[in-house]
Amino acid sequence: MRNVTDLNFPLTLAPMVGLTHVALRRVISEYMPLNASTHWPTEMLNSRRVPGENLKTTPETLRDDFESNLVPQILGNEQKPIEDSVKRLVNEWGATGIDINMGCPVQKALKHNYGVSLMGDVGYAAEVVRMTKKNATVPVSVKLRAVGSSQSVPELIKFVNTLIDAGADWITLHPRTAEQKRRGQADWNQITELKKNCTVPIIGNGDIQTVEDVLEMLTTTGCDKVMAGRALAARPWMMWQLGEKLGLEAPAGFEGRKAPVTLEEEGAEYGRALMKMIDYSEHYFMSVAGASENLALRKVAFYVRTTHVWLQFGHSLMSAVAVAKNFSDLRINVARFFESEQCMMQKTELRQ
Ligand SMILES: Cc1cc2nc3c(=O)[nH]c(=O)nc-3n(C[C@H](O)[C@H](O)[C@H](O)COP(=O)(O)O)c2cc1C
Repeated sequence: MRNVTDLNFPLTLAPMVGLTHVALRRVISEYMPLNASTHWPTEMLNSRRVPGENLKTTPETLRDDFESNLVPQILGNEQKPIEDSVKRLVNEWGATGIDINMGCPVQKALKHNYGVSLMGDVGYAAEVVRMTKKNATVPVSVKLRAVGSSQSVPELIKFVNTLIDAGADWITLHPRTAEQKRRGQADWNQITELKKNCTVPIIGNGDIQTVEDVLEMLTTTGCDKVMAGRALAARPWMMWQLGEKLGLEAPAGFEGRKAPVTLEEEGAEYGRALMKMIDYSEHYFMSVAGASENLALRKVAFYVRTTHVWLQFGHSLMSAVAVAKNFSDLRINVARFFESEQCMMQKTELRQ
């Protein structure tokens, strides 16, 4: 991959702590239209930790051999940890790109001057891009947030163009401010403005819940690609629905079938996708990484906690998952929940 636009599919998953792991990537990738390709993130990886970790068994860096176009996300601002992390991720782990987190708004990131705090220091932010680029033989991207009321959109454009001059190959914008965290309306106009005023591919993110939202963001902002997090985790078949809209072939294993359309069909598909999520979490976290059953169960529970809001009776599912003490109970409880017809909701408040 020379740049993200070399890959033909205009939707990608967002990096999400505790969620964007190998099991979720596999569930979603199985809904990819035939011959479609996109890039795949990891959750954010602390550059101070990556150099000393076993990348093959740490849950955050577990990957499968079938995976390609992996673009792990790093968090950090120091030369040596970034250098060592990037070299390991590219040379040992097989990253095809490196994404730099400049959007994380948590207190710890603010204290250490990485994540979104880098957006307040253009010179240093550019330096972090240069540090990364110098050690990466693959493209480098940056994921940013919106500018707040104290800054103007021209300032955002100037900021991004400085990162591009420092070597950023593409930019992802989640146009909510640090104060908004993940709630409230995303300001898509800032995506439009970046696309109009910057020379590299722009990925838009925020307020995507359905395939119609994906198409609307592509048309109204002109962005090169859309990134979706919570809703794509809940509706992994959005990949298939989008493929149909674009005239692509059904995913492998779904030949001759149509993607779910009604909210009842989506409810049933959620149940099937969750069963896969359970199988893959058990396989990767316990069998491959040797983690405890408890950790693998917690991964599934967190997935349900984030995505249950799209199910009409999601709270009951969450309780059924929370009480399971092992994978055998979990499968029984989930199967029982989906014995009666379940219905999804098109939109939620996006409060999680
Ligand atoms: C549980 C959770 C964890 C997240 N962790 C990260 C992260 O590690 N790195 C990052 O850049 N953004 C992170 N985000 C933000 C998402 O990447 C995305 O920008 C945000 O959720 C908006 O997109 P969405 O509405 O499609 O979910 C996280 C979001 C959620 C819900």
